[in-house]
Amino acid sequence: MTLHQFPEGFLWGSATASFQIEGAATEDGRSDSIWDVFCRQPGTIVNGDDGTIACDHYHRMPEDVTLMRELGLNTYRFSIAWPRVRPDDKEFNPKGIDFYSRLVDELLAAGIRPWATLYHWDLPAAIDGGWLNRDTAYRFAEYAAKVAEALGDRCKDWTTLNEPWCSSFLSYAGGEHAPGHTDAAEGVRAGHHLLLAHGLGCQALRATLPAGTRVGITLNFNLVDPADPESVSDREAARRIDGVANRFFLDPVVLGTYPKDVVADLEHLGLSEVVADGDEKIIGQPIDFLGVNYYHGSAVTGTPQDGTAQQTEANGRRAGNPNVGSEWVQFVSRGLPTTAMGWEIQPEGLTRLLERLHRDYTGPAGIALYVTENGCAMDDVPNASGFVDDQGRVAYLRDHFIAAHEAVARGVDLRGYFVWSLLDNFEWAWGYAKRFGIVRVDYDTLERTPKASAAFVKEVAAANAVEA
Ligand code: FCB
Repeated sequence: MTLHQFPEGFLWGSATASFQIEGAATEDGRSDSIWDVFCRQPGTIVNGDDGTIACDHYHRMPEDVTLMRELGLNTYRFSIAWPRVRPDDKEFNPKGIDFYSRLVDELLAAGIRPWATLYHWDLPAAIDGGWLNRDTAYRFAEYAAKVAEALGDRCKDWTTLNEPWCSSFLSYAGGEHAPGHTDAAEGVRAGHHLLLAHGLGCQALRATLPAGTRVGITLNFNLVDPADPESVSDREAARRIDGVANRFFLDPVVLGTYPKDVVADLEHLGLSEVVADGDEKIIGQPIDFLGVNYYHGSAVTGTPQDGTAQQTEANGRRAGNPNVGSEWVQFVSRGLPTTAMGWEIQPEGLTRLLERLHRDYTGPAGIALYVTENGCAMDDVPNASGFVDDQGRVAYLRDHFIAAHEAVARGVDLRGYFVWSLLDNFEWAWGYAKRFGIVRVDYDTLERTPKASAAFVKEVAAANAVEA
């Protein structure tokens, strides 16, 4: 048995997102987000699920904070619902802001460090044109300033965006997420506007927040390997997907410029037309931390002559492709075990990813790394009292904690780990069909029951160490 001890002060937390857990969709002035609208369109969400009730966290917030305290978690990553704070893109709504103010107070009283994300995909539906509209980036900065003004005295860690790859390419080109469009050029346009929103949001946060607060962004990463490392075309496929999945976001944020090869790959999709002079400078604002969401890597193959685009079939129903400009690339299975999402389980990828980020991006800039999401959906089977002995999830988490520890041992400045997710919740296009929680939610009674994985995370957080 080896004990992998994490550095002192390492943060252990769980993560959630407003739309996935809050419910109370029309309460206290909240208006529709693009996800409320998307859920109403037939065929978009498995079982026709929506976020109207979700985990009812809006009403059970104190109980959920108590749960976290009982699990010994010392931080909590949550997101703020823009359509609660500024419904219909009109006046700011004190009642909406008050919910998050109470959440922050409750967390602090429980000894839990609040870690706020301003945008986890629930854009107010009333904003004209959504992320295709450049002005939305400016609306985001106004919203960020307002929330920072209200919570900045107590909340010290601020994330602008969660996974802009999803809210642009997967949403505007892949068609799988709201607003469900399938146009590659739209994906690129939305991607740039989201990055601009990040930069403008950083500026607004810095101008508003007191000293001692930290600002960053969370990106999702796909560790892309060529299916055949000897094949020139597979290596080109890997460069392409690394470009649009990772570097399109990472480079402008950390290095202040879009990568040249990706700009060339996307030229026919109008990237240079949407990037105005000075935009990259705004996007490249200094950040204090980079949040890393890691679930799996991929092996890719193909040649441009393959022609026809593979369609995303993640939930089997939407036809689009999020791999803008590189639709010919095919993703191949490596025969690894998979989670209930069908995602290959690849813990060593986390070590490699963190090392790469530290070496090529964050280390030289003095930016701290945090794993802001990692976890898995499993086919949970509750016993008669609702308890889930999810040893598969325990093994998944253990292996990924060890992989993260390995990165730390190799000198990576990783300072915390947030498990996705505290609760089973609304898993976007999959509705309630996929369960990621370390705490089970019974959707009939809304009762919460910690799973075996919750006890495991509690143990790791208490020891600040993981045993292998
Ligand atoms: C990430 C999202 C998060 C959750 C997990 C499973 O892409 O940020 O909301 O759905 O995947």
